[in-house]
Amino acid sequence: SNNIILRNLAVPRFFGAAANTTFLYHDLNYTEVISTQFSIFTPENEMKWEDIEPEPNSFDFGPADEIVRFAESVNAKVRGHNFMWGSQLPPWVNDTLTATELDRALQNHITKVMEHYRGKLYAIDVVNEMISDNTPNETFKDNIWTEKFGEEAVPKALTYARAVDSQPKLYINDYSIEGINSKSDTLYSVLQGFIADGVPIDAVGFQCHFYLGQVPDTLQQNLQRFADLGLDVAITELDINLQGPGNATSLEQQAKDYWTVVNACVQTKRCVSVTVWGVSDDHSWIPGGNPLPWNAEKQPKPAFYAIADAFEGK
Ligand code: G3I
Repeated sequence: SNNIILRNLAVPRFFGAAANTTFLYHDLNYTEVISTQFSIFTPENEMKWEDIEPEPNSFDFGPADEIVRFAESVNAKVRGHNFMWGSQLPPWVNDTLTATELDRALQNHITKVMEHYRGKLYAIDVVNEMISDNTPNETFKDNIWTEKFGEEAVPKALTYARAVDSQPKLYINDYSIEGINSKSDTLYSVLQGFIADGVPIDAVGFQCHFYLGQVPDTLQQNLQRFADLGLDVAITELDINLQGPGNATSLEQQAKDYWTVVNACVQTKRCVSVTVWGVSDDHSWIPGGNPLPWNAEKQPKPAFYAIADAFEGK
């Protein structure tokens, strides 16, 4: 693997990873892989609301800055993650705020973070996981944002973001929208409405947290229909959960699954990047899931070679 550099094979696309300051510069083998293989990074946690604005209008940019500086040092881009999510909110963002106060908090949060990172973000997951899991009965998830703003929640976040900086690509990012299904159909019609109404939106992020052997058959077709709306698409959080240590057979299936996802992106003109959610199995958000292309020893797994093949059109 010494001479296989995935970021080079991915061109004109970006190959990315969720980067985490817990391991960056602390685990040197991790740092070695992350410094050479990737051309775009998403801070795994460092830009989430509870981390970056733990108290009202009091920002802690340190850890996110560390990732942005690291990305610059290896000539890689950054995807911001994220602004509007029902999860990982600090205690002060809660039900006791009036709609007006919450609105001000949202606009201030988006404005301050985007001003701080002006010129440094290629893309931002402005909206994360806001589509309901109970479609078509319900369109958006029930959370503080929809409780206070209803259907205006998502357009509000996108509009505030665009008003600060027209440069970064503005994303809606979600899970279980990878195949053609009720949830992706719902997002699709939401986006048709946004485009008709002039709500600013540039792209859709497909997370792609999959279990082994469960990549949807309609992935490529689904990416294409969103691209045909005039949007960029990206694979934003790819991992393939083995739910255990695995064996030769499951590692081969995992490689096949990685190939299928990367190939779907490669076959879609407007698919701009493939990001894996972590680097090596020991630092994954899924304990014991062994879902990543590098093992705990930071050695490339069959999945690594499958990603290379897919980027090379093999
Ligand atoms: O940093 C604190 C530490 O101070 C504290 O002692 C410890 C106790 O639990 O928690 C630490 O924070 C944890 C953080 O990861 C950093 O390790 C949080 O508890 C934990 O909830 C958090 O998990 C992250 C999760 O999002 C929630 O933010 C995962 O690392 C991260 O991989 C995961 O990523 C999400 C994407 O943002 C959105 N899509 C799904 C994806 C996977 O769940």
